[in-house]
Amino acid sequence: MAIRIRGIGTALPERIVTNDDLSRVMDTSDEWIRARAGIGSRHVDGITSEMAIEAGANALKAADISPADIELLILCTTTPDQTFPATSAVVQSSLGLGCGAFDVNAVCAGFAYGYVAAYGMMVAPTGPDRVLLIGSDSMSSITDWTDRGTAILFGDGAAAVVMERHVQGEMLAFDLGADGNLASILYCDHDAKIQMEGREVFKKAVRAVTRSVENVLEKAGIGADDVDVVLPHQANIRIIEAVCQRLGIPMEKTHNVLETTGNTSGASIPLAMARAEADGALAPGRIVLMSGFGAGMAWGSVVVRW
Ligand code: ACO
Repeated sequence: MAIRIRGIGTALPERIVTNDDLSRVMDTSDEWIRARAGIGSRHVDGITSEMAIEAGANALKAADISPADIELLILCTTTPDQTFPATSAVVQSSLGLGCGAFDVNAVCAGFAYGYVAAYGMMVAPTGPDRVLLIGSDSMSSITDWTDRGTAILFGDGAAAVVMERHVQGEMLAFDLGADGNLASILYCDHDAKIQMEGREVFKKAVRAVTRSVENVLEKAGIGADDVDVVLPHQANIRIIEAVCQRLGIPMEKTHNVLETTGNTSGASIPLAMARAEADGALAPGRIVLMSGFGAGMAWGSVVVRW
C-alpha cells in the first residue's frame, strides 16, 4: 500500500507588504532583501484557522471529495489561534469534518513531521483512508515589525493536501531530527515576538538540512541525481542554494514561492508543492524530496515516489 496526494489547496491573505513598504519604516531596501534573502513581498494579517479552513476547502475541492471522506485532520502550525482548544478542532468543525483532529508544532519542519505522522497512521491496519494535512501560519502576528533582522523574512499563508491510500505514492524514507541545545538562537515566548540570531540560524540550517537530506537519500537507497523535484522550506533562497550546491542538486529542480510569500513556516513546503504542481512537475513515479528546518532546532526530510 502507498499514499498519494490527491488534491492540493492554498490560501494567502489579501494584504501584501512589499520590500519598499518595509524600507519606508525601517533601515532596509528592496535591493538588500532580494540579494540576501530572495524575498520581494509577503502576505500579512492572516488568521491561522481562517487560512487553514480556506486552504483545506480548496484541497477538498481539488481532490473532488466531500468532508465526510476525511478520516483525520492534522494541522501543522506554530501560531495557533489560542493556547487551546487546538486550532485543528476549530478547522475540523468549520470544514464540516466528523473526524479526529490534532495540531503539530515543529515550527518550519512541521509539515515534514505532519506528513510522516499521517503516513504512519494511514499504513497501520485500521488507519484512516484519507487524511487532510494542513500547514497554516500567521507569522506576521509574532513578528516585530520594527526589527529589520526578522521583519523582512516572515509572512502568512496556508496550504493543504488530501492524502489517500492508493497503489502509488510510496514514501521511500524519512529523517526527522531535533536539537534543543539550539533553542536559544530562534524562539518566541508567549505574548512576545520572534527572537533570532540570523547568521547562526543560517549556518546551522545549511548544515542540518544538508545532513538530513544525505541521511534520507541513504535510507532510501538513492543518490542526489535520482531526485526529480525538491520542495525546500522557503526561508531564504541563499540557504536553498547553499544546500543544493553541497548536495550537487541543480537549483532548477527546486520549486519556490518565497519571492512572493517570505517564510510562512508550516505552510512553506506545501505552498512549494502547489507551485510544483502548477509547474507540471508532479507526475507519478517522480522522486520528490521535501525538507524543512526551523526553531528547535527541528528538521525533517521526506523522499516520496510520487
Ligand atoms: N536591511 C539592510 N541591512 C541589514 C538588514 C536589513 N534588513 N539586516 C541586517 N543588515 C546589515 C547588518 O547590520 C550587517 O551590517 P554590517 O556588515 O555593517 O554589520 C549586514 O547587513 C550583514 O548582516 P548579516 O546579519 O550578516 O546578514 P546575513 O547575510 O546573515 O542576512 C538574514 C541576514 C537574512 C537574517 C540571514 O542571516 C538569514 O536568512 N538567516 C536565517 C534565518 C532563517 O532562516 N530563519 C527562519 C528559520 S525557520 C523557523 O523556524 C521560523
